[in-house]
Amino acid sequence: MDEVNVIGLGYIGLPTALMFASSGVRVIGTDCKADVVEMLNKGELPFDETGMNDLFLAAKKNNIEFSSEYKKMRNYVVAVPTPFNPETKLIDESYIVKAVKQILEVCSNDATVVIESTVAPGTIEQFVRPIIESSGKTIHIAHAPERILPGQMLYELNNNSRTIGVDDEETGRHLKALYSSFCRGEIIVTDIKTAEMTKVIENTYRDINIAFANELATICRDGGMDVYEVIRIANKHPRVSILSPGPGVGGHCIAVDPWFLVGRYKEKAKLIRVAREVNDNMPSIVAHRIEDLMKENGVVSYEKVGLYGLTYKENINDVRESPTLQLLSLYKEQKDHFCVYDPYVKTKMVDGQVFDMHEFVNRCDFVVIMIGHDEIKNNSYILNDKIVLDTRNIAHNLNHLYHL
Ligand SMILES: NC(=O)c1ccc[n+]([C@@H]2O[C@H](COP(=O)([O-])OP(=O)(O)OC[C@H]3O[C@@H](n4cnc5c(N)ncnc54)[C@H](O)[C@@H]3O)[C@@H](O)[C@H]2O)c1
Repeated sequence: MDEVNVIGLGYIGLPTALMFASSGVRVIGTDCKADVVEMLNKGELPFDETGMNDLFLAAKKNNIEFSSEYKKMRNYVVAVPTPFNPETKLIDESYIVKAVKQILEVCSNDATVVIESTVAPGTIEQFVRPIIESSGKTIHIAHAPERILPGQMLYELNNNSRTIGVDDEETGRHLKALYSSFCRGEIIVTDIKTAEMTKVIENTYRDINIAFANELATICRDGGMDVYEVIRIANKHPRVSILSPGPGVGGHCIAVDPWFLVGRYKEKAKLIRVAREVNDNMPSIVAHRIEDLMKENGVVSYEKVGLYGLTYKENINDVRESPTLQLLSLYKEQKDHFCVYDPYVKTKMVDGQVFDMHEFVNRCDFVVIMIGHDEIKNNSYILNDKIVLDTRNIAHNLNHLYHL
């Protein structure tokens, strides 16, 4: 039986650890946050994800363990955060470096260290390999980036194709066998830098395409055209597939990874930078639209304006860098607060937040749909008497409906 110490039990590390364990691999999950480890040891999950309760039970049957300490095991899978430095736009590699140093303190010769965290191309060569080489231990290094989608992570862990970057064929064979314990998709073995670049450009591709749709929305508004109708018709072309515009891009992947390329290839990554800027500017465009519609409809108090949705994606509870939080940051000096509601966010995060849909609807004259959770998608009729700015194009046939 093979064995893995999964380092970092967040949105990526935890489902991965549970997947390995439930597929018969011996797993110890390690996180530096004592409260996360404590919760897991009590049998509680720190976040919701479709199917994760059953997977947790299956993993526990196979004796998965959780600890704050790193353990001596044959393989390490590192899934710690990789933010970017907002000034330089370069990757902040400090979490990875710290994790690798801690692994080196406990691991034996011949261990395999897989970085699953998303990293800029060249990061492993520049920051990870030198630490490993200076340890004097023989360690096999690999990069196996993750591309799963929150909300359907478990399905995608099982079925997505994945990429593993390695230095030699033997490590490639070993890791292909390890990941095949749960992955039914194609596993492509390549070199480390190609694996790093592949992951980053996947998210960059998404970002650029979203930016195109967002830019079309602003052009169409200026020109008095309906962007959704324009896109709907253009998409009839057999080789055109334009995405839908929205209030911005959140989360820790699409809104972050393109910056790694901009930081490292400043002169070359021009289109990538502009796309990032277009998407980062969307919350400000929504704010202008709110101001205009408040004036047009005689709404004077922000307390009467409701923001529906705090998460960055529909039907999940992850709020990291969400467009709503970006929008609220533009109003941080203001004393008169928006009314904010999200069915997936059960604890208080922002001023003006309420926890009941009916209370939210009753309090507001003007509702801004920031995210298209199924709850509002299936019940948008309850906004029939309200002024509605629908930034996701999910509400239809309302009396006072506006778009981006
Ligand atoms: N969330 C996603 O949808 C997603 C998708 C694909 C790739 N990724 C990438 O996966 C990586 C992890 O992202 P995430 O969303 O799981 O992050 P996260 O913040 O949810 O989880 C990271 C975990 O690592 C722990 N940690 C930090 N430093 C540690 C250390 N030195 N030792 C042990 N634990 C440590 C933190 O306490 C936290 O629990 C990032 O590089 C991200 O870009 C994320």
